[in-house]
Amino acid sequence: MNVEINGAPYQFDNGLTILDACRKAGIDIPTLCHLKNLTPSGSCRICVVEVDGARTLVPSCAYPLSEGMKVRTNTERIRDARKLIVELLIANHPQDCLSCSRSLTCELQKLAQELGAEPRPQWKERRTYPVDASSPSLVRDSNKCIICGRCVRVCEEVQGIGAIDFTKRGFQTMVLPAFNEDLASTTCVNCGQCIKVCPTGALSESFAVRETIDVLNTKGKTVVAQIAPAVRVALGELFGVDEDNVAPLLVDALRRIGFDYVFDTNFAADLTIMEEGSELVHRLTSGGVLPMITSCSPGWIKFIEHFFPQYLPNLSSCKSPQQMQGAMIKGYWAKRMNLDPRQVHVVSLMPCTAKKFEAQRPEMEVDGIRDVDIVLTTREVARLLKAYDVDLKTCRPAAFDHPLGEASGAGAIFGATGGVAEAALRTAHKLVTGRDLENLDIEAVRGFTGVKEATIALGDLRLRCAVASGLANARQLLTSLGSGERKYDFIEIMACPGGCLNGGGQPTVFDVDALQERLRKIYAIDAGMQLRRSHDNPSIQKLYADFLGKPNSETAHRFLHTHYHPRPEKV
Ligand code: FES
Repeated sequence: MNVEINGAPYQFDNGLTILDACRKAGIDIPTLCHLKNLTPSGSCRICVVEVDGARTLVPSCAYPLSEGMKVRTNTERIRDARKLIVELLIANHPQDCLSCSRSLTCELQKLAQELGAEPRPQWKERRTYPVDASSPSLVRDSNKCIICGRCVRVCEEVQGIGAIDFTKRGFQTMVLPAFNEDLASTTCVNCGQCIKVCPTGALSESFAVRETIDVLNTKGKTVVAQIAPAVRVALGELFGVDEDNVAPLLVDALRRIGFDYVFDTNFAADLTIMEEGSELVHRLTSGGVLPMITSCSPGWIKFIEHFFPQYLPNLSSCKSPQQMQGAMIKGYWAKRMNLDPRQVHVVSLMPCTAKKFEAQRPEMEVDGIRDVDIVLTTREVARLLKAYDVDLKTCRPAAFDHPLGEASGAGAIFGATGGVAEAALRTAHKLVTGRDLENLDIEAVRGFTGVKEATIALGDLRLRCAVASGLANARQLLTSLGSGERKYDFIEIMACPGGCLNGGGQPTVFDVDALQERLRKIYAIDAGMQLRRSHDNPSIQKLYADFLGKPNSETAHRFLHTHYHPRPEKV
């Protein structure tokens, strides 16, 4: 269709909003409540434009483009309206930008600067509210909420949960859990996708940077870090380092700030595959409960506990790689080093806010010793390094400590949706047929499609697999499984869309290309390794020879397996 924008002629396909069209034309329009791929709400009005024939300014994010339309995007009237909107918002906003966790990345702060908006305390209408810090993963500060509703929509539309919603009206409007319950008492699964879309500091992870510094300063503690697969492909974004894998730089950075040892969670991903692959083969050959469903993603685990408890027997009993690594650091490595495991502090560097919840689960300990003591998100890792004036750019590549630092490419791909399934299939093929899979790249389970399916030949056995990421997709998959519409033997589910590379603790990006780049980096790490199958990892083989015996042994169950339980579906 033909339209005119700011006096210039353009042609666009049908079905676009004014905002879509302007973005295609490279014309900048500010937005707050709008997010691509979520239902437009048109609530904040910051994106208003003039349309010939319209009596008032119209929200470009929710207004359809039509043939012959004449649009203006930046007149005096528009700028005044946008400035007024921001001034009304900041009149009701705490003025603590100096210490706010979102300072310099806050979208409201950026807009206020761009539009020259000034605080007008005389317009303040709203009360102050208590901060909800009940969750081990998230902090919710209603004082900083601008009622844009992005968190409500991502929780409902992408994750299919609806743990929060709008309540009351007008100036009293708030975003709250039902009945104003604490977040910890709700069906929130701690995935942190709401934090990633929040334009201000109203939602943030439960910070553990100060606690980490305190532990590093405590004499007599052995402080050990572990680095998750997806952290290494995203942390560089916060330091302007674009190497595929920043783990070697991060190892050096962590040693500089006082960590005694740095291990690789990818090692524990290999260990997970040994346990989970063996569990799958055992279920397949002994009439066990099928389909077996992966258990690495703690947001997914809480989701199934709330909404699909009938499938709890289908979950693998394996702990996640984070917890397995913690259990091996304290239960195996500490003893070899003649260290008291109670004096060893494990700090996990994770892409995930739900890992904070997982680490605190009562199930995640052995003989009263917690597997993991502190969890830091990728964003917090950047803050920690900056607190010590350590810039990743100036670090030198360094190797992980051993023996819990050697990993295969199969461990590396845990960071992407489909990665756990692919890694498991590489090992399950060996376990079932006695031969290694010839082509290790199982393309059918790769990529960002919400639900993927593949049938993989393991000798005579044809294994029906499904992979889902994003919990609304998981809900759809389990619903079709329940109705008998679909049948599988093995299912991988990750809570966050795209998997851990897009976890709730990762740097915020709304750009699909940026996520594609993280995905590319993960598979590049795998492709560049000699060792690409978990069962070939010599350090894993030694761990079984020295300590665990064989996969799924009694010792393995004691340290590496767990159980889950139903939770209420409603508050
Ligand atoms: Fe369009 Fe909020 S961004 S109304």
